[in-house]
Amino acid sequence: MVRLPPVIGHRGLSALAPENTCAAIHAAYSHGISWVEIDLSLLGDGTAVIFHDDTLERCTQHQGHLLDINREDLAWLDAGSWFSHEFAAEPIPTLAEMLSLLSTYHMGLNLELKAQPHVSHATIVRCAYSHIKKYWKSNQPIVISSFDHDILLAYRKADPDALLAMLYEDLQPDWQSVAHRIQPLSLHCHYPELTQDSITAIKSKGYQIAAYTCNNLNEAIQLWQSGIDTLFSDQAHLFTQYLNNKAE
Ligand code: G3P
Ligand code: MG
Repeated sequence: MVRLPPVIGHRGLSALAPENTCAAIHAAYSHGISWVEIDLSLLGDGTAVIFHDDTLERCTQHQGHLLDINREDLAWLDAGSWFSHEFAAEPIPTLAEMLSLLSTYHMGLNLELKAQPHVSHATIVRCAYSHIKKYWKSNQPIVISSFDHDILLAYRKADPDALLAMLYEDLQPDWQSVAHRIQPLSLHCHYPELTQDSITAIKSKGYQIAAYTCNNLNEAIQLWQSGIDTLFSDQAHLFTQYLNNKAE
């Protein structure tokens, strides 16, 4: 069985480089981070890109909706300057580029599928599945997660062997019946809403638990002690360093 690592770089190593860019992956790799989480979204022409928001303004110097731009716009969009001038002209990566890069680095991947207005679940699933088949060249695992559990059900139908993860802001009372249908590897929960009871219940059903997004080492230590398997962190380099020092 695939075991999730104790730390996953959230959107790459997003404390040190602009989130969801190749620069954030280079930074994660150079700090010894073994797994990253990134967000999959589609452009208007169906191009699969790594980008978190529905709109451009927070992570580029431009305005508008992601669905209003196309592949050729990636050449002029700057997804790095908002973070620091050092990263000026860093592009929004395509999913194809990102999968190739992560394969080269032999990193584990959690690909989060973002639901988007007017984009069908089938389109999102087909896109992720076909890209993984074509561009994932490493033997490291890929875990597919989503807040939209209908997307995960569609993914399960397309790929009975996929490693899936149900994302929750707040764990819902029907989580067990949904999990029974999706057969996930893990549940990924917003950690302030997790209780010891819910952690115990999830683990007793054989699912791993990942918690997002923890950036404080003292909190991280408590979360690991409470039975959480994995933490998403923007500061994954600090957590990795702590764990490496502890293991020495
Ligand atoms: O996958 C964990 C976390 O990334 C979920 O929330 O908004 O950061 O994509 P968000
Ligand atoms: Mg995410």
